[in-house]
Amino acid sequence: MKINISKISELDHNISIIYISESPEKINKDYFNREELEYIKNQFENKKKSVAINTYKNWKYIEWIETGKEQYIVKEKLRRAAGNLYSQLKNSKLEQICLVDLSDNAENTIAFVEGLSLSHYQFLKYYSKPEEKKNFLKEIQIFGSAIDNEQISELDILIESVYHAKNLVNEPVSFLNAEQFSYEIEKLGQDAGFEVEVFNKVKIESLKMGGLLAVNKGSVDPPTFNILTWKPKDAVNQKPYVLVGKGVVYDTGGMNIKTENYLDTMKSDMAGAATVTGTIYAIAKAEIPIYVIGLIPATDNRLNANAYVPDDVITMYNKSTVEVRNTDAEGRLILADALHFAKKYDPELVIDLATLTGSALMAIGNLGMVAMTNVTDDQFEQLKISGNNMYERIVELPLWEEYAEMLKSDIADIKNLGGREAGAITAGKFLEHFTEYPWIHLDIAGCAFLTKKDNYRGVGATGVGVRLLFDFFNNQL
Ligand code: BES
Ligand code: MG
Ligand code: ZN
Repeated sequence: MKINISKISELDHNISIIYISESPEKINKDYFNREELEYIKNQFENKKKSVAINTYKNWKYIEWIETGKEQYIVKEKLRRAAGNLYSQLKNSKLEQICLVDLSDNAENTIAFVEGLSLSHYQFLKYYSKPEEKKNFLKEIQIFGSAIDNEQISELDILIESVYHAKNLVNEPVSFLNAEQFSYEIEKLGQDAGFEVEVFNKVKIESLKMGGLLAVNKGSVDPPTFNILTWKPKDAVNQKPYVLVGKGVVYDTGGMNIKTENYLDTMKSDMAGAATVTGTIYAIAKAEIPIYVIGLIPATDNRLNANAYVPDDVITMYNKSTVEVRNTDAEGRLILADALHFAKKYDPELVIDLATLTGSALMAIGNLGMVAMTNVTDDQFEQLKISGNNMYERIVELPLWEEYAEMLKSDIADIKNLGGREAGAITAGKFLEHFTEYPWIHLDIAGCAFLTKKDNYRGVGATGVGVRLLFDFFNNQL
């Protein structure tokens, strides 16, 4: 279903061609006749964003590269231009397309191909006749020397990894319960070459992971705790990077059940876990020499006669006690156990990803993620740069010590609910309680799942975080 991306050294004018160029002056005169050049120039001067020419043999598209902006913005404009163009290609039922980057810039080429390939994603599993719905495009040929085969193969792997993350998130809980999720992770591990260890309920009980077990109490399906390991011999880091992902396969809210349409899309409450899986898949498949571990606590948050309730006091994996004030604040409980588990690795850095709070969505909408961290500005800056670069942007919120007040309990060490205000922060503050190492928390509640199509991000799961972290780790080499 993925598009095949390849490099070619000779242009075939029977295939439709996309040219990306900064201006008409940069257009190679050999590729067009005089009339076409005239038309292209005219369209450019009239500020038309793109040009489409239908010859009797093929389509020729020209997409303008904006200049005079920061490179990461230029790249995003190209991704979005590609996303718009994809709709046209779809209507013309094209199966093959060739890309000619007249700016001869690897970053531009890659951004454009990203935009096309991410737009191509579909989740068709549940249609009775998926063939009838399938997108036509099968092949992108890249002409020119801007990018080499290694870059193509890396891009190919990254796109595939985003697809895997999206598939996992788009799966409803009727298929993807915690055990099925573990099974899917194992299959991806075999495919990409990373190791997967799955703890079952008995093991989780013996470890006394009280947060994960409390959230799972109202469920008929057992929880799992998943450890994904990629430890290449030539790793550049001694201490591992640990990625922790929230794996709530469905969040009903539990006894504090979600009302009205707040239940909608809650199959996506394991998006953090899907991102961790997709990222490690990408790193392993591309054989990136980085030692990285993924930790995924997985369960649904449901209710039955035995479900955990507000007023309960639970003992967490790290032995601290938590007063449950709201069963819908479940993500922090399962993450806390995983964050404590991370300690035994003496990690270089722990990054957790979670669809943790509606408050993160309210704060910045679906355009990015909010972050909280205890690392230095310098270290955090690197992640922010990757965020801009991949346009999976990050906004930092503070973890000022005063916020801890809001989590004080009258009966236990800490409670799982802050006040009405600063909800994303008090959630982060709760997690901080379980971290004793360099740590970054990413709340992706706003951007993990879209209810309306947004260009190349599509509708439904976005797979957000995979591209961000792949870029981040590549920059650690
Ligand atoms: N999974 C939700 C957060 C969420 C909301 C993700 C909307 C994506 C879209 C989380 O478990 C939750 O229910 N959070 C509560 C916390 C509250 C009870 C402190 C929230 O944000 O309302
Ligand atoms: Mg919840
Ligand atoms: Zn949740």
